[in-house]
Amino acid sequence: MFWILQWGLQIIEKFCINVIKCGPVPKHVAFIMDGNRRFAVKNKMQLSEGHFRGFDKLVETLQWCLELGITEVTVYAFSIENFKRSEEEVGTLMRLATEQLQKLLSNEVIMAEGVRIRIIGNLLLLSEELQKLCAQVVLKTKDNDKAFVNVAFAYTSRDEIANAARIIVEGVKSGEIKNEDVDEDLIGNCLYTKNGADPDVIVRTSGEVRFSDFLLWQISNSQICFIQVLWPEFCIWDLLVCVFRYQRCCNELKKRGNKRKNKNERIQTFLDRLEQQRLKQL
Ligand code: FPP
Ligand code: MG
Repeated sequence: MFWILQWGLQIIEKFCINVIKCGPVPKHVAFIMDGNRRFAVKNKMQLSEGHFRGFDKLVETLQWCLELGITEVTVYAFSIENFKRSEEEVGTLMRLATEQLQKLLSNEVIMAEGVRIRIIGNLLLLSEELQKLCAQVVLKTKDNDKAFVNVAFAYTSRDEIANAARIIVEGVKSGEIKNEDVDEDLIGNCLYTKNGADPDVIVRTSGEVRFSDFLLWQISNSQICFIQVLWPEFCIWDLLVCVFRYQRCCNELKKRGNKRKNKNERIQTFLDRLEQQRLKQL
């Protein structure tokens, strides 16, 4: 069983999930899974163990998201900046990705659950073996449509936007599209994330309050949740807090919408009365 676990949740967890599900649940949540190395240091482990625990936590989190009805999840698994880390650490992360993608290919749970995996990023920066594995996983799951897991690998937002700009310039140069065709929709459709929805919520663990070049175009309207715990410590209660904050924000927006509606109705009634009065005076 890989990527999607099938162990049961505790009764109290199930109960709280069902309560939270009575309100609006975000369709798409993005995670910056930060704090693996600090977790390793804190627990006197090898740094690589921190990343392994981080992967286990990702698997657990995907299951919670599915239970909650969050149908799309995007995770920041490896930033282009991460290539600057030591050779040993980059090697560990690449091996971890290779192993897990291989396991994914030979496992049917993901197909049975109808999960589509998309890998977003500058895949040309990866080894040929990893590029091939990414392509195999993406192709194998491409017709699944019950849930979506987007893995940002060799990704930064600036690279993604620069790449989109290059694609668009090529299109204009070749005459396939015109200058005036370039708008927000076209740019969005040339990003690595073109097939997905924008995240409703972005979560970053470990207390860091930064976006680190992650989905900068896509999160312009997302709710932001900075969580203090290190990624391997992230638990279902942290996720429920994020969803609860999202629900509070939705309610607030709804109230503001109602206030605006009330105001418009009030003004319209006032204007109608003035018009009636004017007609009477004629
Ligand atoms: C950030 O913690 C984490 C990463 C750079 C790697 C995240 C990767 C995983 C959780 C594994 C996922 C793998 C796959 C194949 C999807 P950090 O290293 O920045 O830790 P620190 O903030 O404590 O230094
Ligand atoms: Mg970090």
